Amino acid sequence: RNIAVVLAGGVGTRVGLGIPKQLIRIAGKAIVEHTIEVLSAHERIDEVIVMMNAETIHELDYLKLDPRFEKLTAILPGGATRNDTTELALAALPTEGDESITVLLHDAVRPFIDERIISDCIDALDTYDAVDTAIPSADTIIEVDSDRLITGIPPRAALRRGQTPQAFRLPVIRRAYALARQDPQFSATDDCGVVFTYLPDVPIYVVDGTPENMKITEPLDIHIADKLFQLQSAELAGTDATPLPDLTGSNIVVFGGSS
Ligand code: CTP
Repeated sequence: RNIAVVLAGGVGTRVGLGIPKQLIRIAGKAIVEHTIEVLSAHERIDEVIVMMNAETIHELDYLKLDPRFEKLTAILPGGATRNDTTELALAALPTEGDESITVLLHDAVRPFIDERIISDCIDALDTYDAVDTAIPSADTIIEVDSDRLITGIPPRAALRRGQTPQAFRLPVIRRAYALARQDPQFSATDDCGVVFTYLPDVPIYVVDGTPENMKITEPLDIHIADKLFQLQSAELAGTDATPLPDLTGSNIVVFGGSS
């Protein structure tokens, strides 16, 4: 049984629009709704649960009435940090028979997750207990100290930018969090990090993400997401959506192209 958990417990401080960013409507729907749609549409996802920012949880009540979302079984309040939200989700999942359950934890604000990524994660769980999604980094990643001095430049070829979904056999991610809870120094920014730190013997396999599967984080990302949805709907409509569609009136000039 494959259960998708949509992590929507945050407030979106960096986007700074005064509402949790997952509720921002782009292309006619809240960002979180786009995300739920892709996960629910996957034939190998059996159930979807949403962990929503507690203060605005009722904003999603309308989804419960939507017949397209029959796999959506619960909308529950998230926690103070992303890891707290994951822990609350794990606590809400069944304990009986959990060896046969896999869980895909996905950021609500990555609406451009696609079918292939989901399939790759589920396939990888046949062999591995923990799976991450990542893409290469175009930028060189540098490590700096508090004086802004570089302390390391890891070779770029070995670096990846972690995305979600992160997928696990349920007992494994539960065990990792149980150990983390006993550690007063616990700090992590994602779920694979918890497995990596507390269950160092568990290999974590990495499947390819996509550049589109970005995390809507900064105000600029809202504009990028809007553009990506436009391209997506052009594709669905069968129009010839080139990477740079209609440039009329834009400031983009394609040298050598006929504009
Ligand atoms: N998240 C969560 N519970 C929290 C914090 C974050 O479920 N307590 C979720 C967010 O809703 C988002 C994902 O984790 O889907 C990635 O987090 P991030 O981009 O950091 O979201 P926010 O915390 O909302 O953003 P910000 O840090 O700008 O406030």
